[in-house]
Amino acid sequence: MKNKTKSFLKELRKQAEVKCDGQDNNFEKLSNLSFDSKTRLIEELRTHQIELEIQNQELRRLQVELESSRNKYQNLYDFAPVGYITVNDKGIILEANLYISSLLGIDRSSLIGASFSAFIARDSQYSHYLNIKKFLDTNISKMFELKVKKKDKTEFYAKLECFLVENGDRDEEDDGDGDEDKDENENYNQIHIVITDIDKRKKAEEALKSANEKLEHRIEERTSEINKFKVIADNANYGMVICDLDGTIKYVNKYSANIHGYEPHELIDKNISIYHNKEQLKTLKKLNENLFEQGSYNAKELLHRHKNGKCFPMLMNGFIIKNKDNQPPFFSYTSVDISNMKSLQAQLIRSERLASTGKLAASIAHEINSPLQGITFMISSLKRKNKLDPEDIDLLNEAFQNIKNTVKNLLDLHRPSKELKQLVNVNHIIEQTLNLVRGYMKKSKIKTKLILSSKIPDIIASPQLLSQVFMNLINNAIEAMTGRSEPDESLKSIISKYGKITISTNLVSDKIVITFADTGPGISENDIEQIFDPFYTRKQKGGLGIGLSICHSIIEGHNGLIKAANLPGKGAKFTILLPVD
Ligand SMILES: Nc1ncnc2c1ncn2[C@@H]1O[C@H](COP(=O)(O)OP(=O)(O)O)[C@@H](O)[C@H]1O
Ligand SMILES: [Mg+2]
Repeated sequence: MKNKTKSFLKELRKQAEVKCDGQDNNFEKLSNLSFDSKTRLIEELRTHQIELEIQNQELRRLQVELESSRNKYQNLYDFAPVGYITVNDKGIILEANLYISSLLGIDRSSLIGASFSAFIARDSQYSHYLNIKKFLDTNISKMFELKVKKKDKTEFYAKLECFLVENGDRDEEDDGDGDEDKDENENYNQIHIVITDIDKRKKAEEALKSANEKLEHRIEERTSEINKFKVIADNANYGMVICDLDGTIKYVNKYSANIHGYEPHELIDKNISIYHNKEQLKTLKKLNENLFEQGSYNAKELLHRHKNGKCFPMLMNGFIIKNKDNQPPFFSYTSVDISNMKSLQAQLIRSERLASTGKLAASIAHEINSPLQGITFMISSLKRKNKLDPEDIDLLNEAFQNIKNTVKNLLDLHRPSKELKQLVNVNHIIEQTLNLVRGYMKKSKIKTKLILSSKIPDIIASPQLLSQVFMNLINNAIEAMTGRSEPDESLKSIISKYGKITISTNLVSDKIVITFADTGPGISENDIEQIFDPFYTRKQKGGLGIGLSICHSIIEGHNGLIKAANLPGKGAKFTILLPVD
């Protein structure tokens, strides 16, 4: 700027000299002027001089103002929170503000004259070169991001914004030889570069990017894990269903859909009620209320309806899926079709019933035999006397009645219709069952004691199945007391030869309590947990170990409970609880 002013003044001087040259003859004219004219001219010149002085003063004031304003902008330039540099077309730094000098850790004076590319990090050099080239070719201002290198070799991310200044000053390049006109007509460019330190932002971006990548990786991992489980769930050989709390199906696997006659996609967003009829839905509703309160349920039998209308039993597990706020937005069920198992179980119960009846054959034969013997005796006496006394007729009648009763009881308890649930009296079933085993008991010298409460109400139950349970318990008691079971050595000593079975019924709150207590050796403590398991037997001969497991499933099928306990030193006691509807 200083040099510019100098050349401007020089120019003014030249012009003045040229003008003066053209006015040489004016001095001759001046000497010919009169005194008055000369005095007026001098006056005029003085006034003009004063006018010029005033103008000069004004100019100086303006110059001071300009100077201060320039300083102000210099300060703004120097202390701006971004770096400013000006480079020439060869990349040599012509100007730099203080901020960039402190950012690079190098004196401003050392910056001036240095090549800007010396401050570009090695791995950003090429892209910097391309960027500047493109910028110069197109002259479109653009922002670049690259790494800048400080004096201490540390690097930071910076954003560069370039502006082209055409025909810029070259006074900084003035060599001071006074030959300032040398490049006067040459066109040259300067580039203003605004440099912003974006290291923190860039590092935050990088951290965010790496966090994102990690997250994406984890999501990928989780997705593949979920897919893995989905493949397992899709192809599981049991049913899986996820519903929202309104019962809308959100997921269903092939097994569950197919077993009900559907394809999975047909069921999505349908209500779970599609799997049930009205009656079954009532049970499902109860199960779900339970599920909501307790979080899960296990091995519940529930009837389902196939698309074709046929019903079949499924064994269900239910559990709640909670969200991250620990709220339960989903019900989830796993299930297996137990139709086959159920029919096998029914077959097993039937064959076990035949087996226990087989065991009673001797007893039944005895029951029929003794009245038959009476009848035979009476017939031979009729032959002899050719007449029958009225007492004999009564005896004969009684004998026939006994046979009829035994056969009736036997048939009653084995008639298929009696397998169905119907209104029954538990005391009556106990008496009927006992009737069939009376002979067996007599033979084994085992007494029975009945304490049957008359207060127990009739309930809905299968007479045949309940009788099967009672028969099993009586059979086991007889076998235990006659020593056919294999109790622990310690218990053998207390086997009583003449045993007794005490059977009682009672109404306790809304339950019928039935007990079978014997005077056998009792059940060893090791066995008591397992005696209801299928095929658990301690009997060396003849024991299949399914009697009690069948009792258990029959009583469960009546929504009841069966448990075993020991009467210390006195034998075993089985208790059955049946709900009164
Ligand atoms: N009244 C009882 N006293 C002692 N032990 C018994 C009694 N009832 C059952 N048990 C035990 O329970 C086991 C299982 O009985 P159960 O299921 O009827 O099978 P099984 O009679 O074929 O052995 C018996 O082997 C026996 O050890
Ligand atoms: Mg048994």
